[in-house]
Amino acid sequence: MNVLVTGGCGFIGSNLVKYLRKHRPEWKVVNLDKLTYAGNLENLSELEGDPKHVFVRGDIGSQDLIEHLLVQHSIDAVMHLAAESHVDRSILGPEVFVTTNVLGTQRLLEAARSRGLKRFLMVSTDEVYGSLGPTGAFTEQSPLQPSSPYSSSKTSSDLISLAYHHTFGLDVVVTRCSNNYGRYQFPEKLIPLMVVNALHDKPLPVYGDGGNVRDWLHVEDHCSALLHALEKGKAGEVYNIGGGAERKNIDIVKAVLGLLGKPESLIKFVKDRPGHDRRYAIDPSKIKAELGWTPSQTFEQGLAETVKWYVDHPSWWERVMSGTYRQYFETQYRAR
Ligand code: NAD
Ligand code: DAU
Repeated sequence: MNVLVTGGCGFIGSNLVKYLRKHRPEWKVVNLDKLTYAGNLENLSELEGDPKHVFVRGDIGSQDLIEHLLVQHSIDAVMHLAAESHVDRSILGPEVFVTTNVLGTQRLLEAARSRGLKRFLMVSTDEVYGSLGPTGAFTEQSPLQPSSPYSSSKTSSDLISLAYHHTFGLDVVVTRCSNNYGRYQFPEKLIPLMVVNALHDKPLPVYGDGGNVRDWLHVEDHCSALLHALEKGKAGEVYNIGGGAERKNIDIVKAVLGLLGKPESLIKFVKDRPGHDRRYAIDPSKIKAELGWTPSQTFEQGLAETVKWYVDHPSWWERVMSGTYRQYFETQYRAR
């Protein structure tokens, strides 16, 4: 099996590439990534010299490049993760979210259609469902009511992927996952930002009253769900992925401070995110019942391990925050 992973140098993508190399060592993984600010080839430094990992710097919107790669590497399946992924950035500048997430995905689908791929896995998000009240959970039948430019662009890419199945017969499977956490997450997202700020004794900015709820899943459990969906999912179907770990933001921030032995006086309540979704919760019973997936990590274990990873790897996030991580690509790849 030869798989094209898009966005394989980002947070989930780099964890996924390593997960595939470990759990499907016979597969070739071609990793297409544009290396935006969120793409860090250094995340994959342990795969240097691995002949079954091929990195290609490129844009999912370059249909000719994609078609070439599909033929050159005899690609059987695409796992599509490349995206602009940060809600706050989509509020500051929505355009690139439409360009990459909507148009880029459509170009990728068009390339896949022209080559007759065996499977196209669209990695979508629970944010397509919008916000929940205090009770209940999103099922695959919940209405799609995205709130932010990010989630709207992901909803568009999710639906255009399903349209390529219904209209053109492309074998598409869509997954909608809740909030991920784990190693290599860019320190603009809640958990790594709080860890890094706390380590510097800087204020921890909590939006609004801190009562917004997210449903957390360890990134490795997401990777295992994606492999289940790729191998066992039914064409045209949508699978929710979640770990049943609903937490208020303020409780997570306090837990991070507790793990680091830092005072709660570092917490600073700041102006709320515009259009901030109040609560997400995923009902993952379909993927569990139909594909036999179950998460393996509890949130408390996973959070402690994740915080420790950031404490033990200051050079990773220092290089990310100073921008020097970009030099890795220049020295390791461009020089060849
Ligand atoms: P990320 O921002 O860490 O990584 C995105 C990657 O995509 C980067 O490596 C970036 O360089 C690459 N990329 C961006 N634009 C590109 C383009 N035009 N062409 C090629 N590559 C491009 O994102 P993440 O958090 O790892 O999320 C990965 C995917 O999973 C996204 O599609 C996101 O919507 C989805 N998702 C994320 C979460 C989460 O909690 N992080 C949850 C559910 C779904
Ligand atoms: O639900 C899945 C989504 O989870 C993914 O599709 C997105 O790609 C991913 O970024 C994530 O979106 P969120 O907006 O939920 O994640 P973020 O880490 O940005 O914020 C988590 C919560 O914490 C949210 O309620 C906003 C809040 N927050 C965030 C930051 C960065 C703060 O209170 N302070 C902050 O500084």
